[in-house]
Amino acid sequence: MPDDEPHQGRLIVVSNRIPKGDVPAGGLVFAIHEALTGAGGIWIGAADPTDQAEDGLTKIGSGDYERFTFSINHEEHRGYYLGYANSVLWPLFHHRPDLLEFHQGDFDAYVAVNRRVARAIAEIAEPDDLIWVQDYHFLMVAHELRSLGVTNRIGLFLHIPFPNPNDVMALPQVAMMPAWMAAHDVVGLQTRRDVISMVEAMRHDTKTQVLNDGTWIREGRVFSILNFPIGIDAESFAEAARAAPEVELQLAPKAPLLLGVDRLDYSKGLVHRFEAFDAYLDMREQGSPRPTFIQIAPGSREDVEAYRDIREKLERTAGSINGAHADLDWTPIRYIRRHVDREVVAGLLRRADVALVTPLADGMNLVAKEFIAAQDPEDPGVLILSHFAGAAEQMESGALLVNPFDRTSFARAISDAIHMPLEERKERHAILREGVFREDIKWWTDSYLDRLRRAPRSFDSQLRAI
Ligand code: ADP
Ligand code: G6P
Repeated sequence: MPDDEPHQGRLIVVSNRIPKGDVPAGGLVFAIHEALTGAGGIWIGAADPTDQAEDGLTKIGSGDYERFTFSINHEEHRGYYLGYANSVLWPLFHHRPDLLEFHQGDFDAYVAVNRRVARAIAEIAEPDDLIWVQDYHFLMVAHELRSLGVTNRIGLFLHIPFPNPNDVMALPQVAMMPAWMAAHDVVGLQTRRDVISMVEAMRHDTKTQVLNDGTWIREGRVFSILNFPIGIDAESFAEAARAAPEVELQLAPKAPLLLGVDRLDYSKGLVHRFEAFDAYLDMREQGSPRPTFIQIAPGSREDVEAYRDIREKLERTAGSINGAHADLDWTPIRYIRRHVDREVVAGLLRRADVALVTPLADGMNLVAKEFIAAQDPEDPGVLILSHFAGAAEQMESGALLVNPFDRTSFARAISDAIHMPLEERKERHAILREGVFREDIKWWTDSYLDRLRRAPRSFDSQLRAI
């Protein structure tokens, strides 16, 4: 087949997290499951850590697509996952260089795992397979694959934001980053803002140049940096929300229900959200219906100190707000840390009058889109969305956008949302719903893979470099 023909090989996806029966909270896993259910292919992810890691893959399931795991030992889990991925890359890419905990040994473990994953992929990849690397756990995999002689088309999709140029400088491996990125054919980011940040970072690399058609070249390899905002399976989420089991919430009549659904992560702005709700309770008219704010936030990455800290801080904040405002028959904040089934979450997202999606930094935030899909178009609720969620680029015209750091105007937005007339709610919801259903998970998968399939092979790249 000529090199510029879209090819017909298999799709090989690699992500750290892979469902092993239980489906944990996290946008990536749901998105990849939905993408692979449509496209078919192979999904490779990390096994639970064991005493000894071995090369190769283990099959763990098949159906619409096949699932395999690579192995990882306990020390690597600490260094690669808890360490370099979640104590260096995650905080840095979420604009929190102050939380960065760098240890050389953690980076060594990251390199070892990235190399093992690359060897495993190289072993199974056939010449026409598309390789699609997901997220910050595997920034080096493509580079390793190239050193193993793999010439397949390789894409990266980064689910998290790309840091601004100053923050990138705090990465001890900043000098290696351009080579890691240029080993892909397509680097996919969530938003235009992320593309601008990455382009800015690449400009500092003297070996990288931008070509007339907007693609990039580094040492003879041509690659693209583009944004593909991830979506959800809106139809099936809407259906799940309609069919969800009724949950007895024991709310007072006419009490507005506010809802937040997040992993417990410092990037989600939960303390700021609680404080804005507190400010709203202070400004609320006496005698108006008393609102209930349910925050579902199951623990995440609890072996990392910053996650234990945020959990403690949030519990203290919820306790003190409830202490100040609660009554015998009213608890303003219900903070739920235990796991809640996805169908129940879908039902709550349908029932909520206001969704609070107010991260301090977030690649996209799928909950914003799930809320819109779940709501009843005839009597929809209002989305309060942070400027700092990637979703804000697509949803700014229908959501109430807030700056989560500005407590007073955030509190006013809560008041506006609670009191918004039906006509305005319907108008805003219709705009958002149209976008969420149009730019859904299938649209995301198809647009990314279409671009990757059409990427020039390295052979062409060499020619274009001359
Ligand atoms: P992140 O990927 O950073 O966790 P997203 O908002 O993009 O954030 O994705 C979170 C996904 O996980 C959504 O699909 C959401 O519905 C799901 N989720 C989050 N918390 C829960 C929960 N407590 N129970 C069930 N699903 C959850
Ligand atoms: C975000 C990341 C994913 C990750 C998920 C859950 O969505 O972008 O890569 O899988 O959070 O985090 P965890 O560390 O539990 O996999």
